[in-house]
Amino acid sequence: MILVTGGLGYIGSHTTVELLEEGFKVLVVDDLSNSSIEVLRGIERACGKKPFFERLSLNERMSVKSLFHNYRDIDGIIHFAASKAVGESVSRPLLYYDNNLTPLIYLLQEVEMLDRDIPIVFSSSCTVYGEPDTLPITEEAPLKKAKSPYGNTKRIGEEILADALRANKKLSTVILRYFNPIGAHDSLEIGELPIGTPQNLVPFITQTAMGRHEKLIVFGDDYPTPDGTCIRDYIHIVDLAKAHVTALQRTLKGEERNRYEVFNLGTGKGHSVYEVIDSFERVSGTKLNYEIGPRREGDVVEAYADVSRANEFLGWKADLSLDQAMMSAWKWEEKLRNTIKHR
Ligand code: WQD
Repeated sequence: MILVTGGLGYIGSHTTVELLEEGFKVLVVDDLSNSSIEVLRGIERACGKKPFFERLSLNERMSVKSLFHNYRDIDGIIHFAASKAVGESVSRPLLYYDNNLTPLIYLLQEVEMLDRDIPIVFSSSCTVYGEPDTLPITEEAPLKKAKSPYGNTKRIGEEILADALRANKKLSTVILRYFNPIGAHDSLEIGELPIGTPQNLVPFITQTAMGRHEKLIVFGDDYPTPDGTCIRDYIHIVDLAKAHVTALQRTLKGEERNRYEVFNLGTGKGHSVYEVIDSFERVSGTKLNYEIGPRREGDVVEAYADVSRANEFLGWKADLSLDQAMMSAWKWEEKLRNTIKHR
């Protein structure tokens, strides 16, 4: 059985679907602080299979202990559960350090107590690289001081894992550094569910086109890039989810590998904000209302991944295009509108 913490979140739910479709038994744990129980039914509709589900907070040591007591056949962990709003982390740093680090420590302590080889796949982020010195970004790139407590919790999480493994040869981990996940499952039964006004570009684009916002503000077009807007590596959420399955299979097969492995998960291609807008207008046939505003504090100019290590060692690469991701994001937004209308 695979424990998926935060399994009702955006990346967690898509990964749970891919795990179930691969035939894994899955236990989803989620405290519903940033997701809805409706996502559990969406997962079942998306793949016709049901995961086990426990609603609990991993911030309580006893909850984690009882979870492993009640489920004796956990063979691997994919740890998504975390708070992830960059802006909120600046105003509420202690909440972020507690939410994003305490559960990781409790999970590792339980695995140590069980004295069984239970690999943990850790959800990290390209944000640990800060403003990269060279592009594309490889896993050897220096980690920079994060520009937000959120980014710092990802970097500290990686260090906690490194120190824990150094002290306990039984532990093993695969760290996955995501670039920019976008889009929705092609069943349209699961997708991104931003709480409140989205901070991220793509859900803001689709909500604006749906009439939920008057216009999109492009945060600066005076950057040193070809069209002046920032460049990112936007990866289809389904490609990202599949990478978790291959990473987990690699650890479970006990293939010749280090016990501490790090992989960038992106497409290896960068796209500017204007290119994302163009892609959206092309696939949706909808003109987007936007205007240029001031730069956003903390934005890096350009970030896209060198994915050769994941290609080689995971045997994985992103297959879906920016247009396919934007089309799925738009169809998901239309589905949400129709669902809300019929409520
Ligand atoms: C992308 C581009 C903005 C909104 C964040 C997190 C990162 C990871 C992915 C979790 C930037 C521009 C955005 C808008 C805009 N999350 N933009 N107008 O900042 O690259 O990364 O999400 O792991 O940790 O930091 O993503 O979607 O916010 O921004 O012009 O209304 O879109 O300036 O250039 P980002 P984003």
